[in-house]
Amino acid sequence: MAALSEEQREALINSAFEGKEFSYSPYSKFRVGAALLASDGTIIKGANIENASYGGTICAERTAIVKSASEGKRSFAALAVVTDVKSAISPCGLCRQVIREFCAQDMPILLVPADYPQFNKDSGDAEKGVKQTSIGELLPDSFGPEHLELPRGTV
Ligand code: THU
Repeated sequence: MAALSEEQREALINSAFEGKEFSYSPYSKFRVGAALLASDGTIIKGANIENASYGGTICAERTAIVKSASEGKRSFAALAVVTDVKSAISPCGLCRQVIREFCAQDMPILLVPADYPQFNKDSGDAEKGVKQTSIGELLPDSFGPEHLELPRGTV
């Protein structure tokens, strides 16, 4: 997986913040924004969209992925996620499985702290508090599309 340029990284993180502005989270009051960098260079934003029937809630990551996939864009180079928490928050289990469907095991996933824009330049942290991970790390030994292609015994 090609490394992200500094410009791509900044643009993706900014888009995740923009996505968060559209969070519909009247119940949890926990805003989440996501941004996906598609292989064609475009960025798709997402926000969490809650429902009065709580189980109908859709997380920001899945909003972004479904928006993109349902328009035929299913190849991705990176994902960024941001909340209002001042530390890196990681995707939920359900989102991990959906990310697994469309993203390479080593595709960069940037978990961005809410104070990233103001992150103290003197903190000595060149990453500005961003935790970089991947779906291979977040969901090891996962089940994916290729497993449905394996030979099966007769039933
Ligand atoms: N949420 C996300 O959008 N992404 C995650 O990975 C974690 C949880 C949302 C769902 C719900 O609207 C709120 O955060 C609290 O769970």
